[in-house]
Amino acid sequence: MKAVHIDASRSYDVLIGGGLLSEAGARVRDLLHPAACMLAADDRVFALYGGKVRSSLESAGIRTEVWTFPHGEASKTLATYGELLEAMCAARITRTDLVVALGGGVTGDMAGFAAATYQRGIRFVQIPTTLLAMVDSSVGGKTAVDLTHGKNMAGAFCQPSLVLCDIETLSTLPPEEYACGCAEIIKYAMISSAGFFDSLERTPISEQTEEVIARCVEIKRDYVMKDEFDTGERIFLNFGHTFGHAIESASGFAVLHGEGVAMGMAAITRAAVRRGICPPETAERLCALLEKYHLPTETGYSAEELVSAALSDKKAQGETIRLVLPRRIGECFVERIRKEEIPDWMADGGIGKAEGKGRTE
Ligand SMILES: NC(=O)c1ccc[n+]([C@@H]2O[C@H](COP(=O)([O-])OP(=O)(O)OC[C@H]3O[C@@H](n4cnc5c(N)ncnc54)[C@H](O)[C@@H]3O)[C@@H](O)[C@H]2O)c1
Repeated sequence: MKAVHIDASRSYDVLIGGGLLSEAGARVRDLLHPAACMLAADDRVFALYGGKVRSSLESAGIRTEVWTFPHGEASKTLATYGELLEAMCAARITRTDLVVALGGGVTGDMAGFAAATYQRGIRFVQIPTTLLAMVDSSVGGKTAVDLTHGKNMAGAFCQPSLVLCDIETLSTLPPEEYACGCAEIIKYAMISSAGFFDSLERTPISEQTEEVIARCVEIKRDYVMKDEFDTGERIFLNFGHTFGHAIESASGFAVLHGEGVAMGMAAITRAAVRRGICPPETAERLCALLEKYHLPTETGYSAEELVSAALSDKKAQGETIRLVLPRRIGECFVERIRKEEIPDWMADGGIGKAEGKGRTE
C-alpha cells in the first residue's frame, strides 16, 4: 500500500492499495470517530461495492445510511444534490457525522459539495472507484454540480478528511472509463515529468497501478499545496482542458471527459509544434501514447461549435484566456491569449474544421 499526505486547508492522507473497501470502517472510525455517516453512491457502483463498504462501516460501529442516484453526469445537478441534502436531514446526520462518497468523480464532486454545505460544512471521505477519480477528482478539494449553463458552475473548495483508493475496484471499470483515467495520467506526465512519461511509454499503467496513482496524486498535491484555491499555478492541471472541455460540450457530453482531454492535449501540442514552441517529437510521442490507451487524438466538430464552447470556459477572464502550452515532454508554461485568437490556435491544432460533426473514432 502507498500513502500520500496532503497539507492543504485540511490535512489528509490518500491511501492506495488493494483491500481498502473492507478496511474502510475501521480506518474511518479510528481517524474520525463519527457516530453515523451517509454513504452516497450511484446505482451501478452501489450494486458492485455498496454492500461491502456498508458492512465494513457498520461493523466498525458507525450507523450507516445509504443514498443512491442514477449513474452518469446527467445526475450531477442541483436537484440531485438537493435530494442528498434532504436525505441527510431525514437520516439525522449531524455536524460531527460524515459523508462517504463511493464512486467516480460524479459522486465525489456532488457528495463533496453536499458535505461542504450541509449545516455549513461537515467532514467527508472519498472512496474513488474510477481511475480518473483516484488520480484526479478525489484529491484537491474541488466539489461541484453542473448547472444548465455549464459544468461545475456551482461548487465549493472543500478538502476530504481521507481518501481510500482501492485499486481492486478497477477490475470492473468499463474500458472506455479506464482510458479516461489514462488521459489524465498522461496529462500529469506532460506537465511535470519527462521521466514519468518515459515510464508510461515503457510499462503499461495496469502493470504499475499503485505507483502510477501515487505519482499522480503527488503531482496534484504539489500544485494544490501551492495554489489550493486555483488563482495561479493550479492552471497547469488544465493542460488540454480548454479545447477538451469545448469538445465535450460541443458533443453534448457524448464525448467523455478523458476523451476530450486527450483530443485537447493532442490539439494544443500540434498547435505548439506548428508555432515552433515545441519540437515535432513532443506531439508524435504524446499522440502515440494516447493511442496506446485507445484514446482519440482527432475530432471533427466545426470551428463554430468549438469556439463558442471554448469562450464559455470558466478559465476565461475578461477578454483573455490562459492556455497551458507544452515546451517539451514534462514541461509546460502558461500563455494568456486574446479570445479572438482561439480559432487560429484551434486551426493550428487541426481541430475546429469548417465542416464535419460528430465523434471521430
Ligand atoms: N473535482 C475535481 O477536481 C475533478 C477533476 C476531474 C473530473 N471531475 C469530475 O469528475 C466527473 C467524471 O468522473 P468519472 O469519470 O469518475 O465519472 P463517473 O463518476 O460518472 O463514473 C463513470 C462511470 O463508471 C461507473 N463506475 C464507477 N466506478 C466503477 C467501477 N469500479 N466498476 C464499474 N463501473 C464503475 C459509474 O457508475 C459511471 O457510470 C466529472 O463530473 C468531472 O467534472 C472533477
